[in-house]
Amino acid sequence: MIDRFLVLSTVLLGALGAQPSAPSPIAAPLRELPWGQLNILHTTDTHGWHGGHLQEPQYSADWGDYISFAKHMRDKADEDGSDLLVVDTGDRIEGNGLYDASDPKGRYTFDIIKEQEVDIICSGNHELYKSNSSEDEFRQTVPGFKGSYLASNLDIYNSETDTFEPLAPRFKKFTAKNQGIRIIAFGFLYDFNGNANNTKVQPVEETVKEQWFQDAIRDRNVDLFLVIGHVPVRFSKETNLIYKTIRKVQWDTPIQFLGGHTHIRDYVRYDSKAYGVESGRYMETIGFVSISGLSTSGKDGARQLEPRKANPSFSRRYIDNNLYSMHHHSLKNDTTFATPLGPNVSSLIASARKTLNLDKTFGCAPHDFWLNRAPYPSNDSILTWLENEVLPDFITKSSTDEATPAYIITNTGAMRFDIFKGPFTIDTTFLVSPFTSGFRYLPSVPYEKATKILQLLNNEGPISLSELRISHLSASSSLHDSALRESDLDILTPARRPVNFMSEKGISIPQTERSIAQVPLASTLDHGATKLTPGYTTTDDAGSDGDDTLHEPITFYDVPNCIAAAVPPAHPSSSSRSSHLSHSSNSHKQEDSDDEGPQTVQLVFNEFIQGWVVLALRYLGEEVDAADTRPYAGGKSFTDVISEWVGEHWTC
Ligand SMILES: *[C@@H]1O[C@H](CO)[C@@H](O)[C@H](O)[C@H]1NC(C)=O
Ligand SMILES: *[C@@H]1O[C@H](CO)[C@@H](O)[C@H](O)[C@H]1NC(C)=O
Ligand SMILES: *[C@@H]1O[C@H](CO)[C@@H](O)[C@H](O)[C@H]1NC(C)=O
Ligand SMILES: *[C@@H]1O[C@H](CO)[C@@H](O)[C@H](O)[C@H]1NC(C)=O
Ligand SMILES: *[C@@H]1O[C@H](CO)[C@@H](O)[C@H](O)[C@H]1NC(C)=O
Repeated sequence: MIDRFLVLSTVLLGALGAQPSAPSPIAAPLRELPWGQLNILHTTDTHGWHGGHLQEPQYSADWGDYISFAKHMRDKADEDGSDLLVVDTGDRIEGNGLYDASDPKGRYTFDIIKEQEVDIICSGNHELYKSNSSEDEFRQTVPGFKGSYLASNLDIYNSETDTFEPLAPRFKKFTAKNQGIRIIAFGFLYDFNGNANNTKVQPVEETVKEQWFQDAIRDRNVDLFLVIGHVPVRFSKETNLIYKTIRKVQWDTPIQFLGGHTHIRDYVRYDSKAYGVESGRYMETIGFVSISGLSTSGKDGARQLEPRKANPSFSRRYIDNNLYSMHHHSLKNDTTFATPLGPNVSSLIASARKTLNLDKTFGCAPHDFWLNRAPYPSNDSILTWLENEVLPDFITKSSTDEATPAYIITNTGAMRFDIFKGPFTIDTTFLVSPFTSGFRYLPSVPYEKATKILQLLNNEGPISLSELRISHLSASSSLHDSALRESDLDILTPARRPVNFMSEKGISIPQTERSIAQVPLASTLDHGATKLTPGYTTTDDAGSDGDDTLHEPITFYDVPNCIAAAVPPAHPSSSSRSSHLSHSSNSHKQEDSDDEGPQTVQLVFNEFIQGWVVLALRYLGEEVDAADTRPYAGGKSFTDVISEWVGEHWTC
């Protein structure tokens, strides 16, 4: 067994490094890294969190610390003659004030991230939504990672030549420096179609037919295919296709996939010589994979092991991004950990945060509010708080027509992160709701239909939104099905579950989640006096020992697609469930007749869901279209609404 458990008493470690205001990590029992012949560090979906998590000790290391860490791991590889590669699979932007708060956005990000020595890197979908952010990719990130950036199926418009050209090379072949492992690497993006018109994402199905790809996978002088991509590693048609296409021509050359996009920790076995890893999100996780037993070119270029004789073994570990883990795995301590470059980058981040005033406080949260970690409805649920406090206040203040009651619907996907007890800062606003779109409204909609929209959006009526979509909409725009997972997933759906999902009752785990559902470790292991902290407890194709840190499992609760509030409250009631306008149509009829609910309402909704709201209204027999909607509250974004409310209600 490679695993050894190091059990420590729970002490707070003083931390040099990380951001000045970051909490010190808490000591915890750790599993060792399964170091091998070829080792890879992997980040994905960092979404601007290069300053680390300043309210969560478990994820409090920053990009500068990661730079020091990677340097020590490279040194270790050089010392023992193994190899180390560093990989990032995209969505580096959007979702944190360090990126979003500057004008233009990302002003500080590019100089920070390019300081890490990355061996292979690719684009995510978020880099491509706006033409100016893909321009940044073209003008800053690609040159910053010259020789490492790959774009197997992505082109960009170059205004200087007036043509579309590959954003970066399609693939690269290189030899890992110490072992002589010959590697062919690709950098894919899933079949994304929400990009601005200055980029072209070629469907993977077409890319694998291209001559350059067919030639590359026929190369016999290769010890490993390294397929990185902003593509999930499980249940992904793109990954499956790439895997099958390579296997058709090289039935047993080892393949390692490194993926992203769904924000989870996952590890998938395709066959005994092909594995894939996904390394979470938001700088919470540094993925580690290792492969041993690979053939190599040897010193004189001669093949050391015929691929068929090679019998590689694959391992993985998910490192919690904090200094405690980093010190442990690199055998360093507070005095010896910092490299010359790491702290410089931490300072760059700190000064950018200061310039952007990210620590400016609107108010202080009285306790933690959770998106998925508390049941909905409940007092600890962000959604309940929005529904009972924030949204009613907002429509009361913004109403243009006091005689008409207002009814507001918002998608829960507009909320992205938890709110922690303590200061609610400018930084917090970008974390909890980074989206800039405003609200719109329809001046007069029958109340009964407004409530039915909510049911439709939540797939709770006689017809679900996905059924509606089939007859009315293109496949790329549904709220809750697999087409969506492949496009705007992290904007529309409720905030991604940071840990493998477990349903409230523990029985209705969706099929796609079941195989990776968490199992409690605590019941099977004795940790002496050490109290485990809550965190990731991942189960994947290699078992339940993937996380470097032993944690207490966290329970996650499912939440609806959309929530709503009415002013005046449509159904004053003692039960908290009915205050969010019950989803059941039966109880509606009942309550409507009981208290003569309002006839028509101003229907307010966030702009992002306008298409679905209009669609649902048409289905309900209303002759409306997008042109009938009007801007609401002067274009205020959800983020503005929340921070104003906090400023007025939560004192420090
Ligand atoms: C892109 O343009 C918009 C609108 O002018 C601006 O708000 C944003 O900061 C720009 N983003 C980037 C990445 O330059
Ligand atoms: C993208 O669309 C805009 C507006 O329709 C147009 O002006 C521009 O030329 C298009 N860009 C490219 C590269 O096609
Ligand atoms: C850190 O490690 C170095 C080298 O092993 C050692 O000399 C030093 O005492 C350690 N410092 C602390 C604070 O443990
Ligand atoms: C770190 O910053 C210091 C002070 O600005 C500078 O002198 C030094 O060269 C930097 N080190 C590296 C490795 O960039
Ligand atoms: C939830 O909050 C309400 C209003 O503050 C309070 O009356 C109620 O007791 C709380 N419920 C629980 C379970 O704490």
